[in-house]
Amino acid sequence: MTNSATVPHPITAPVTPAPGNYLWWQEGIIYQIYPRSFMDGNNDGVGDLKGILSRLDYLQWLGVDAIWLSPIFSSPMADFGYDISDYTAVHPLFGTMEDFERLLEEVHRLGMKLILDLVPNHSSGQHPWFLESRSSRDNPKRDWYLWQNPAPDGGPPNNWLSVFGGLAWEWDEKTGQYYYHAFLKEQPDLNWRNPEVQQAMLDVMRFWLGKGVDGFRVDVIYHVIKDAQLRNNPPNPDYRQGMSAYDQQIPAYSTDQPEVHEIVAMMRGVMDEYSERVMIGEIYLPIHRLVTYYGENNRGAHLPFNFQLIVLPWKAREIALAIDQYEGALPGGSWPNWVLGNHDQPRIATRVGKAQARVAAALLLTLRGTPTLYYGDETGMRDVPIPPGQMVDPQGLNGGESRDPQRTPMQWDSSDNAGFTTGEPWLPLSENYKEENVEVQREDPASMLSLYRRLIALRRAEPALHIGDYAPAPADGDIVAYLREREGKRFLVVLNMGEQPVEYKPEQFRFNGRIVLGTDHRREGEELHHCLKLSGNEGVVIELRAEK
Ligand code: GLC
Repeated sequence: MTNSATVPHPITAPVTPAPGNYLWWQEGIIYQIYPRSFMDGNNDGVGDLKGILSRLDYLQWLGVDAIWLSPIFSSPMADFGYDISDYTAVHPLFGTMEDFERLLEEVHRLGMKLILDLVPNHSSGQHPWFLESRSSRDNPKRDWYLWQNPAPDGGPPNNWLSVFGGLAWEWDEKTGQYYYHAFLKEQPDLNWRNPEVQQAMLDVMRFWLGKGVDGFRVDVIYHVIKDAQLRNNPPNPDYRQGMSAYDQQIPAYSTDQPEVHEIVAMMRGVMDEYSERVMIGEIYLPIHRLVTYYGENNRGAHLPFNFQLIVLPWKAREIALAIDQYEGALPGGSWPNWVLGNHDQPRIATRVGKAQARVAAALLLTLRGTPTLYYGDETGMRDVPIPPGQMVDPQGLNGGESRDPQRTPMQWDSSDNAGFTTGEPWLPLSENYKEENVEVQREDPASMLSLYRRLIALRRAEPALHIGDYAPAPADGDIVAYLREREGKRFLVVLNMGEQPVEYKPEQFRFNGRIVLGTDHRREGEELHHCLKLSGNEGVVIELRAEK
């Protein structure tokens, strides 16, 4: 008997805008560049804007639509640029403002978009705002940061922990108060309840938007407002050995406060002063909380980053469930998005293995919603073990998990340092770069890079894949299967997330079609009649024949 609950049906109809009404950030693909590691233009060992400029032809060849740059601003680099000392200046390590303008112009000339990182939650401790703020209790900028008297026992004002380890309060001897830092003590949190702070940061946004940048990825946007009463965070009952010290608590009062949505809407208001800009929010929250960041009537972030594919165990049933839960939780009129990796997380090829990373690529690039790719994942780059003495990431140095391994230089070719620099690279390169690099993989139809490029080209060419509806297809065990459809053209995606061969022949759903893309390219063109055999770690995209 057919179980009607498992028969595929489009569940996304209400949020599908009319044809022609899609924006670039809905149809397109975002590529994250970690500027220190993409390409070194002046051979000082650290990547820079000139380097990125020299590699734009590669990104165009790959087929991505938008580039997001992690921070390029003035910074003492305590957290590699996420500690900003001047929000409207380019760090000399990366180049000059002229270099930036040139890059922006060229990105636009090539028909791509440029997204910058905005870090509003905290500045550097070296920012003139903080230097003033800490100079005395009656300084006009005192209230720009979160200063508090000690608790009655002389200790910190509450129990809040820093994401990077230790207490989140730092004692200032000179003025006899504590200041709050969600991250390093070199990254004091701004007081977003202060209207002057709001205006100053909104002006930073206008500065860059006025130059023509196409949007922002807003760093830890869910952190910007803290509980007005600074109540203690409760202990986390699910805390287990091996988790980070920060996870000992539930950050119930230090993050995701109701008033944050006023700030998000305020920022969105600035975006809307310009045409077709995108605001992406970095938010690590469960789905039901995440979707609130679209804001009332979708007046919040355009794309609250969806990290399900990063935070969930790589298990077919969990991933399939999360896709459907996410689809179901999206507010009407909002647009989904998916992220597979970033500069804070172990690389996908390390998390799931080289073979399964191909399936992950197929998943990312066939799901409904804007995909974000992390540089180097398209060549299957893996985390590079960093010898203890060479660790530089403050999270690692503070006893947490080091993020250096996922930030190593891009592997361009087989020359010294993979063509990234002729200087001494700021982080060591992978030992395998002579075999695994862009130049070698470009020529190999079986390479990860060729797979990414084919997936991107197919996604771009087929409206069903970039703007089409999504519906789950019946599947069990290690299989994830779904349909994408637009104007009668239907694709069935079947992915084997396990290592064992599987047969896909669901009782409730018959399919006929042709494989248009496979993680194994040799299968492309194969005709299927209601039966698909997949090897372990294999996935295919099937173009379905129209039903008679
Ligand atoms: C975000 C960034 C991360 C940084 C932190 C503090 O999570 O992605 O790299 O360390 O914010 O700014």
